[in-house]
Order: sequence, then structure tokens, then C-alpha cells
Amino acid sequence: MLPVICFDVLTLFPSIFDGFLSESVLKRALITQKIEVRLHNMRDWAKGRHATMDDRPFGGGPGMLLKVDCVAPCVEEIQHRQEPPGRLLMFTPQGRCFNQKFAEELATEQRIVMLCGRYEGFDERVAEILNPEEVSIGDYILNGGEVAAMVVIEAVMRLISGILGDENSNRLDSFSIDNRILDCAHYTRPREYRGFSVPEILLSGNHAEIAQWRKNNSLQRTKEKRPDLLTPDLLTTASNNSPLKTETLFSQFSITKDKKQSK
Ligand code: ADE
Repeated sequence: MLPVICFDVLTLFPSIFDGFLSESVLKRALITQKIEVRLHNMRDWAKGRHATMDDRPFGGGPGMLLKVDCVAPCVEEIQHRQEPPGRLLMFTPQGRCFNQKFAEELATEQRIVMLCGRYEGFDERVAEILNPEEVSIGDYILNGGEVAAMVVIEAVMRLISGILGDENSNRLDSFSIDNRILDCAHYTRPREYRGFSVPEILLSGNHAEIAQWRKNNSLQRTKEKRPDLLTPDLLTTASNNSPLKTETLFSQFSITKDKKQSK
């Protein structure tokens, strides 16, 4: 069976991925060949006796840069080893911010080639020559792109059919296709613990009311924890899908907020 998606990771530290790939959902997806992850050590393309991959920046300044004459041939060879050459991602703090929509977009690809930087980053000509999509996983600085590559592999593989137990379970996760806001609260046994009870409605067996409670809880949590996600178009969609009107949703939120402040 051909894997649905193949990730080629170009890195100077392939062993960082060992534990990540050998546990749980990822391990199973690799064994069942739903996905394939190929690690390539960029040092194999290094030149000279010392296999140097990095050098000091022209003009001075701190740190070292990954050399274009090592990185470019490495990427080109990997991409052309087989068809299709794949979508080329280069991890850098200045890239397009990775999010769930981006993951959904990548999950439609057959092959993703990921270039992991180290040190102060790449010689600028790597981007000029290879024209990769520059990707950041957030506004902070990592030691390199390996953790970013793991984030992308994990977020994308979850979206491949047959990888998670329940086919539809990821559609309602936070930020996901059926729910671009935060997921609602979830509870399991025991019904009561240290005086904290499960909301009565979840024990009622009334599926319509439970669904409504979850929708409201999801909106309420988003308002409290991530109000930036509640864009006007999203609120209109939410109120259209719900018997509650937008004003009611807003007034619910302000009640919750007041309660929290008065604690
Ligand atoms: N390399 C260093 N920091 C990074 C970030 N935030 N995202 C992607 N790659 C990076």
C-alpha cells in the first residue's frame, strides 16, 4: 500500500525525531504505512574533510549560517529523487504562521519536503534559489526547525483518513473545520469529585440539548480564553446555526465575564 502522504525532513539532527516517531499514533501510522517519514541528514551534502555545513556571515555579526552550496544541492536531490517533488517548506521565524487551516491545506498533499534550519538560519540565497514556502510555528525563537517539523507532521497526519480511531473526531476539535473556535469542556467519571460535579445536562441523555450546551460552552470558553477568535462572520454563523440570537450570545458572554470578575 502506498502511504497517503510522505514527509521528507532535511535536518542536521535526525536523531531528534527518534522518540517522536516511535510512540502512539505516529508509530501506528508509520507501521500501517498510512504515512511515511524519511529523515535526511544534510551533513551528507557537506563539503570538505570537516563536513562543514555552516559559516560566518559576511559583514560580521553573531552566529553562523547554513551554507547555500550545501543546502541547495541537498534539497534539489531529495526533491528530484522521486515524483512528485513535493511542497517545499522552510522553517524560519519570518514565515507564514502555521495553523489548523494551513494543516488542512497540507493534508491534501502527497509529499511535503521540510527544510529545518539551525544556528542563525540560512544564507538568504537558499530562499532565493529554492523558492520554498517559509513557515513559522509562532512568534518565538527555537534552536532550529526540527520541533516545527514535528508540529507540522503531527497536525497534518491527524487529518489523514483512517489515522485516528473515530473518522470524524477531529472535525470538532478546537480550530477545526466544523468549529473554528475552542472545543467545549468534556467530562468523564466520576460524576462528582472533591465537590465538583459534571454539568447535569450531560447526564440527561437529551442529545439535542447536549449539542446545544456544547455549542454554547464552546462559544463561552472562546469568549473568555481566546476572544480574538470570535470574528464577526463567525458570530453570525454561530447565531444562524443556533436558536439563540447573536445578542443573546453576547449577553451570555457578559454574564460569564461578570461572574468571573466577581470571584
Ligand atoms: N526556527 C526558529 N524559530 C522558529 C519558529 N518559531 N518557527 C519555525 N522555525 C523556527
